[in-house]
Amino acid sequence: MRRKLVVGNWKMYGRLARNQTLLQGILDGVGQLRNADYAVCVPYPYLAQAQSMLQGSNVAWGAQNLSPHEEGAFTGAVAPGMLADFACRYVIIGHSERRGLFHESNEIAAAKFAAAQKAGLTPIFCVGETLSERESGVTEQVVAIQLDAVLSRFGAAALSRAVIAYEPVWAIGTGKTASPEQAQAVHAFIRRRIAQQDSQVAQGLCILYGGSVKPANAVELFAMPDIDGGLIGGASLVADEFVAICRAAQ
Ligand code: 13P
Repeated sequence: MRRKLVVGNWKMYGRLARNQTLLQGILDGVGQLRNADYAVCVPYPYLAQAQSMLQGSNVAWGAQNLSPHEEGAFTGAVAPGMLADFACRYVIIGHSERRGLFHESNEIAAAKFAAAQKAGLTPIFCVGETLSERESGVTEQVVAIQLDAVLSRFGAAALSRAVIAYEPVWAIGTGKTASPEQAQAVHAFIRRRIAQQDSQVAQGLCILYGGSVKPANAVELFAMPDIDGGLIGGASLVADEFVAICRAAQ
């Protein structure tokens, strides 16, 4: 039986005072829950704040991106070891906003995946199709290529220390969520593809759904057999909503 995981992706939102209220609200709401795992992926400047407020609790923290390089002259970039210094457990890799707005290729995402694991971080590796790709019926091909960026380079074994997030681009921040059946179909496809290499890794793998997850749809999404939790954007910025989603994973 896989444990469910709910991760908040704050994106580029937050201020010290607001974060304090939000993190305290999350701790108050989920601090006593033990049957699932929880985390927030915050902007870099707030890692110290997340660490100081969350350490010792059942809510982990992480980042939303990292450099594939260990160190060097890369102005503005953040090295994997720096995230480890702040005791990050997770780092989101290959989010569609990174792929789309920052032109990150599958190759870059794969390099970041390896760099994260080397530093002891758990990558949350994102895949997902655009609306036009879904409408042209190539969802599985697109997801397969994104997945193979790590699967073919590093093998299924690397996925035993990773989380996959299926986030259809058309469902992100649009209020238009994939139906539980639509999401389940892609999650099952991902698990089958990995099972072709290693069925044990595939069975143990945590596959999150992301894209307009709200308290109102979380229960039915999380009830699907291959949906192991959620990667939550907008609703993770509102303590009551995030807590309600976390409770749906119980
Ligand atoms: P929303 O929950 O705001 O749709 O964002 C999803 C997402 O991109 C999480 O990484």
